[in-house]
Amino acid sequence: MYRTHNCGELRMEHAEQQVNLAGWVQRTREFGGMTFVDLRDRYGITQLVFNQETDKELCDRAGKLGREFVIQAKGKVMERSNKNPNLPTGDVELIVSELNILNASKTPPFTVEDDTDGGEDVRMKYRFLDLRRPQVQQNIMLRHRIAQEVRKYLDSQGFLEIETPYLIRSTPEGARDFVVPSRMNPGQFYALPQSPQTFKQLLMVAGYDRYFQIVRCFRDEDLRADRQPEFTQIDCEMTFVEQEDILNTFENMMRHIMKYVHNIEIDKVPRMTYADAMRLYGSDKPDIRFGMTFVELNDVAQNQGFKVFDDAELVVGICAEGCASYTRKQLDGLTDFVKRPQIGAKGLVYVKCNEDGTFKSSVDKFFNQEQLKTWADKMGAKAGDLLLVISGVKEKARKQLNELRLEIGNQLGLRKKDDYKFLWVLDFPLLEWAEEDERWVARHHPFTSPKAEDFDKMDTDPGEVRANAYDMVLNGTEIGGGSVRIHDRGLQERVFELLGMPEEESVEKFGFLMGAFEYGAPPHAGLAFGFDRLCSLLGGADAIRDFIAFPKNNSGRDVMIDAPSKIDAIQYEELCIKSVVPEKEEV
Ligand code: AMO
Repeated sequence: MYRTHNCGELRMEHAEQQVNLAGWVQRTREFGGMTFVDLRDRYGITQLVFNQETDKELCDRAGKLGREFVIQAKGKVMERSNKNPNLPTGDVELIVSELNILNASKTPPFTVEDDTDGGEDVRMKYRFLDLRRPQVQQNIMLRHRIAQEVRKYLDSQGFLEIETPYLIRSTPEGARDFVVPSRMNPGQFYALPQSPQTFKQLLMVAGYDRYFQIVRCFRDEDLRADRQPEFTQIDCEMTFVEQEDILNTFENMMRHIMKYVHNIEIDKVPRMTYADAMRLYGSDKPDIRFGMTFVELNDVAQNQGFKVFDDAELVVGICAEGCASYTRKQLDGLTDFVKRPQIGAKGLVYVKCNEDGTFKSSVDKFFNQEQLKTWADKMGAKAGDLLLVISGVKEKARKQLNELRLEIGNQLGLRKKDDYKFLWVLDFPLLEWAEEDERWVARHHPFTSPKAEDFDKMDTDPGEVRANAYDMVLNGTEIGGGSVRIHDRGLQERVFELLGMPEEESVEKFGFLMGAFEYGAPPHAGLAFGFDRLCSLLGGADAIRDFIAFPKNNSGRDVMIDAPSKIDAIQYEELCIKSVVPEKEEV
């Protein structure tokens, strides 16, 4: 038996027992005629002890063990005289009587510890070593746990896990497709799915009324900490349901996950319309762990001689509680923050609500104490608070103030990672205007149904049509989204038309779906969660790559296997693709 126990298992109750352990050498120390080895596996670390006096040869061999050697140790569990309260196994140690080296290891390029000395690049190149680090292992195990709970819950609700193909034709979710050339169909390409959207709808037409899949999706888009070119969704669809049924079913799924993964009970998930989210938070994914909601000040701050405000479409502010004591330097810091090109505000107005009831502002030249008091009253500010005001074109000013609100939330420690605040955002607009293409595009995707009460606006005021679409937001991150679908061919055609898609194109691309709608398509609705994002949030981290065993870097590369890579000339030939890269580069 390689091992009778794992390295995280031994406790006082095992004292005096004879056991076998196997694992990796984390480190060795020699001290007072003894050699100590920390033996690690994914369950934990156990201290091995070799005594010079009892077995000199064995002790010398132990002293020569290198980091990351794989060994087997047999011996007796003993109570430690010098207990380590930081280690679950810290009450005991293994007095080793037999040591077998199962495999040696080269010196690893970085320390395989949570507090590693390895930079991102080297850790990604040696991801198999990085994956040995306890923190990364915790992440991967958490991912497993969440996946199991998702399956348990959905299975208990009668959902069927059904696989859909990866080699498909393009499904529009707003990103570029990754394409795969077809050898057997020269000059033609598959696309990798951006999501299984059309297939799950076809499954509904086929009568599989509750579907789910924990499924890989592929999107060729610019990468960020919360985006990977291939990522995983918990993709779901239901038949004979309305929006309300979806919200309840998946809110309960979150409740199940939080309970069984984190032992946290969550309350009823609050709901907010998209319009309110934008008005109160300047974001379609508000972080509701803290208040500081927007207050519009047009009526009290305009037409009093301050041109910047007078010319603005919107004057809007937040009240940072207790921040009147901010120094000049801190305030300049906030101004610089909103003026950064990524945020793009022209400036920031502040008003300090002093303890003595007076106000000190950056616009004292334009507004007197009485006027500033009306702002403070409108914003519900009290002595000691700081008002921060931004003005400009409505949408931009809101976005800028949203960034500032989140920054202040960070500065004040109001965005605690273990404070989980879920939110449904409802009633998204059906369409959004794409500046570059000068046309309407689907905000969610083209299969989303418009709200019946907004049908009449489809021709007259498309931008005002609301959709039966919803997002689930957790701590300011969109973790999922979906919609009630169109299941009627006529309406689907109408929406394609609104999106400026000529009929031939919609028939060529989506004829299969619209055709299926003519064979008894039931009403259906669904949503998909970003599984990697959910894992990273529940694991208290920002970057989803920490929760993916083999992620890509920010340039979309896997530096361990060095992909993407060139292919052989013969492959180009077989695939009937002309290489645009010279076959042999001149030296
Ligand atoms: P959507 O495009 O909103 O909807 O995607 C659903 C969720 O997937 C996550 N997500 C990502 N996670 C990591 N990397 C990415 N590049 C990435 N892109 C999206 C987000 C998002 O909320 N078919 C629809 C769902 C539906 O209507 O049922 C869809 O894919 O957390």
